Amino acid sequence: MPLPDPVTLMVRNIGALVTCDPAHGDAPGVIRDAVLMCAGEVIVYAGRGDAAPRPTGDNDIVDIDARGAAVIPGFVDAHTHIAWLGDRGEEYALRSSGLTYEQIAQRGGGIRSTVRDTARGSAAAIRDAASTRARLMIAHGTTTVEVKSGYGLDHDAEMRQLDAVADLGADHGMPLAIATYLPLHAAPDGDRADFIAEVCAHGVGDAAALASFCDVFCDEGAYTVDECRAVLLAARAAGMSLKVHADQRTHTGGAQLAAELHAASADHLEFADEADCRALAAAGVTGVILPGAALILGGPPPPGRRLRDAGATVAIATDCNPGTSYTESMPLMMSLAVATAGLGPSEALVAATSGGAAALQLDDRGILRRGLRADAAILSTPHWIDVAYHLGANPVATVIRGGQVVVGAGLAG
Ligand code: NIG
Ligand code: FE
Repeated sequence: MPLPDPVTLMVRNIGALVTCDPAHGDAPGVIRDAVLMCAGEVIVYAGRGDAAPRPTGDNDIVDIDARGAAVIPGFVDAHTHIAWLGDRGEEYALRSSGLTYEQIAQRGGGIRSTVRDTARGSAAAIRDAASTRARLMIAHGTTTVEVKSGYGLDHDAEMRQLDAVADLGADHGMPLAIATYLPLHAAPDGDRADFIAEVCAHGVGDAAALASFCDVFCDEGAYTVDECRAVLLAARAAGMSLKVHADQRTHTGGAQLAAELHAASADHLEFADEADCRALAAAGVTGVILPGAALILGGPPPPGRRLRDAGATVAIATDCNPGTSYTESMPLMMSLAVATAGLGPSEALVAATSGGAAALQLDDRGILRRGLRADAAILSTPHWIDVAYHLGANPVATVIRGGQVVVGAGLAG
């Protein structure tokens, strides 16, 4: 059967095509001896090699021989703070000598320290810093990354951060970037009520032109449930979808707020109990676990198993930020999710791909299936399980973003 569109790229001799498609049986939906074909940005065939159609057209096809390696969907890293300036290595050392994250924040460090360094930076400087991290991300197989503001605090600085994110991802050497406005992160300098009112009156309206999501840090030492609700309702009215940093440091009610508002995701959730996880599942809210932050902060482990058992969709993300999780590696987050969050390797892979897509409400990626975006990683191993199993390694040899090879030359056809 000929293909409807001219094939522009094909990957042959795939030992294991790891589709993450529930239509292909037990997770992660592996097809042996497979071929992947793309026309432009879209997959036109993802299936067995012996059943593959012959590519049509006389165009030059990029022809890659995977030589038996596994191919997985590109990772969707659905929670990051990569648009920051400055450095907090000193705080990392202080924490290791016993000071808590909150004690450091009370002394003017923590998020406030990064706000001081980032708020005065130009959009170009912020973009350059974020680009360095985004390039490392795509080298580790991430093809879509969510990027939050939250280090501007004042209105103009927040918008500069969002401008910087808008500049990312036009470059093919980086993941596609999805912007999130995070106005409630560090506590404000002046009156809290005035600050919230200003965010509702002007912040969300201006941010809606630049960001798909609005997020809030709902916790002790950050913002209350009522403050978060006010901003999230205003953000929804302005056209953004919602996210919540929920129940990370204390059981504050963030997960219940996310469920009440049918947010796209509730993130962190270390202190979310079974009832919270059930509420998220019932409301269709994706639970995003961030095993790097949980490990570094030394609190309870991420509730991966609790969320799954409650029937919720789970995503794994890096939370890449200078305070609690300085990492660009989704494979490492998968390893930590298996080691600390009670997920199996196949659950972790699905959570890092289609789970991330669910947290960003993107139904065109995270699965290798005809008609979806051609975002994929060719591994350097035939064993997909190595992604989580091989601790701290980068198992990614070649990255295809939107049907184009953007990392690694691909193996000669
Ligand atoms: O996701 N929890 C709040 N925000 C970040 C940390 C940000 C920072 O410390 O700079 C997080 O862990
Ligand atoms: Fe975060």
